Amino acid sequence: MVEKFDLVDLNSVKKFAKLFAENIESPFCCYLNGNLGAGKTTLVQYILKSLGVTDIVVSPTFTIIERYSCDFEIFHIDLYRIDSPNELEYTDIPELINNDGVFFIEWAENGDHFIPLADLIIEIMVKGCRRQVLITARSLKATHLLTNLLKNVNNEL
Ligand SMILES: Nc1ncnc2c1ncn2[C@@H]1O[C@H](COP(=O)(O)OP(=O)(O)O)[C@@H](O)[C@H]1O
Ligand SMILES: [Mg+2]
Repeated sequence: MVEKFDLVDLNSVKKFAKLFAENIESPFCCYLNGNLGAGKTTLVQYILKSLGVTDIVVSPTFTIIERYSCDFEIFHIDLYRIDSPNELEYTDIPELINNDGVFFIEWAENGDHFIPLADLIIEIMVKGCRRQVLITARSLKATHLLTNLLKNVNNEL
């Protein structure tokens, strides 16, 4: 299942993130694709805020992984600086993926088999000052989430 959404400004990113947060359940893995500056980290920040995370959510570009918790554990991973997937052997990631939790992964293409398979893929495209978001559900759980998003999105964004 694939659906497209238009996020015209940060306020609609916020509303979208809130609906997303209301429908996500652990365990879950979401890849975020899109160029540098597309808004991947920003979307994760809003989702985590809606999930009740009160910590400041920073970009994991330098730390590779940031952990948070709400009703479940959240792992925000950014593999932009990883040149070869083998480098991940020296991080906490191979061990962490055995945990139940929600994973948000930026630059997942650099992760190879060291990262969990995606339930959902969010691709963010910049269209002028707007963002277009293409969402692909790859599991039943993700299809439920996407169906619920669609039900609510028209009157909310
Ligand atoms: N829908 C949007 N409309 C306008 N600006 C946005 C939107 N989404 C994100 N931005 C802005 O674009 C920038 C994206 O940065 P960031 O989230 O760090 O990108 P990425 O993680 O994809 O590299 C931020 O300054 C953010 O405020
Ligand atoms: Mg980022």
